[in-house]
Amino acid sequence: MKKTNLYNNKKIALFFGIFLAIFILASFSTNGLTISKDMAIYEVLQSLGDEAVNHEIGEQDEELIRQGKELFINGITKDKKEKKTKLQSPHFKCISCHNTVIDEGDLKTMDAQARIDFCKENKLPILQGTTVYGIVNRTSFYNGDYQKKYEGNPRILKSHKDLREAVQLCAIECAQGRPLKNWELDAVLAYFWSIEFKIGDLRITDEEIEKINDWIKESENEKAIDFIKEQYAQQSPATFGNGPKDAREGFSGIEGNADNGKTIYDLSCLYCHKDKKYSLYELDKHKMTFQHLKRHIPKYDRYSIYQVSRYGAPSSAGKRAYMPQFTLEKMNDQQLEDLRAYVDKMAKE
Ligand code: HEC
Ligand code: HEC
Repeated sequence: MKKTNLYNNKKIALFFGIFLAIFILASFSTNGLTISKDMAIYEVLQSLGDEAVNHEIGEQDEELIRQGKELFINGITKDKKEKKTKLQSPHFKCISCHNTVIDEGDLKTMDAQARIDFCKENKLPILQGTTVYGIVNRTSFYNGDYQKKYEGNPRILKSHKDLREAVQLCAIECAQGRPLKNWELDAVLAYFWSIEFKIGDLRITDEEIEKINDWIKESENEKAIDFIKEQYAQQSPATFGNGPKDAREGFSGIEGNADNGKTIYDLSCLYCHKDKKYSLYELDKHKMTFQHLKRHIPKYDRYSIYQVSRYGAPSSAGKRAYMPQFTLEKMNDQQLEDLRAYVDKMAKE
């Protein structure tokens, strides 16, 4: 009897030994990393061995994040000594032109219509600037035509690969305000890092997260990195468009959809022009307002929707606010015709 017992104990010990060995081996090969939805993407990519970005800031400082957020949203904050900073710009806040939450319907392509649909569903403004949610996860800024058309402009060139430079450029050129002090720039960066992408922001299934974890277990880190990065645009693309050759005709072959035009008018144009929020030029829902817009469409002048959407609008006398153009990624030819269809419809009603 005793003998068999000993034999059994040995068997059990061996069994546990093997089990333990497998367990230890498995946890070694994963590096202890198991991906879950609440994890920040940059950290995940870093532990998988991906390249670092030059706007990394290390430790997150809650106070700095709060100051950065205030600067971005209100244009003003308090410094360490509780003293109010100077207003960054008398004309705009950063949120005049940038959302601070995800506003893309398609994180991979940043498709214009997917964005409009998403903004409508989530009651977000449709703005010329890209969202700053997840901006730290991008690797270049002021892309595409900003680089091509402003070739030779050293600031734009520098801002292409440097988020800090991009912030400073926009503070001066877009917001038409003062440059940020170094600590304010740190604060805005800290704020941006506080709204970086999490795994859960990516539109992937639980099965796909499992798949990533399997790759990591098998030390196929490259596959995991590539898959994660394929889920969101690494940069915000920017293509400048033109108005139609013949403004009377509009873009040939394109039929406008007034419903979509209404979404654009309500969530974009009115966001800045209602009650003269950011502009001296007021837009509302009165028939006369639409008739005014309609009258100027064929003329291609300063009140033409083709003109202002494609080329922006200079500031009115005595005010240094201007209207930035929409790139094709933010409003394409179809959507401009949709807006026109809505203006036409409302001018009649
Ligand atoms: C009047 C509108 C406007 C205001 C105000 C504004 N921006 Fe911008 N910003 C833009 C536009 C348009 C771009 C062009 C690139 C894009 O976003 O697609 C841009 C680009 C940027 C970029 C580079 C984005 C990229 O991925 O290419 C950063 C960073 C930025 N702005 C930060 C700021 C900050 C910080 C403020 C406030 C101090 C600010 N912006 C105020 C319109 C504006
Ligand atoms: C980010 C804010 C913003 C958005 C969004 C915006 N505008 Fe503007 N718009 C401005 C500013 C600022 C001006 C400059 C005029 C001023 O300083 O009052 C301007 C100028 C204009 C002008 C010329 C006015 C003039 O006196 O010359 C028109 C027309 C216009 N916008 C129409 C539109 C339409 C249509 C849309 C929607 C597709 C739109 N805007 C979206 C901010 C904006």
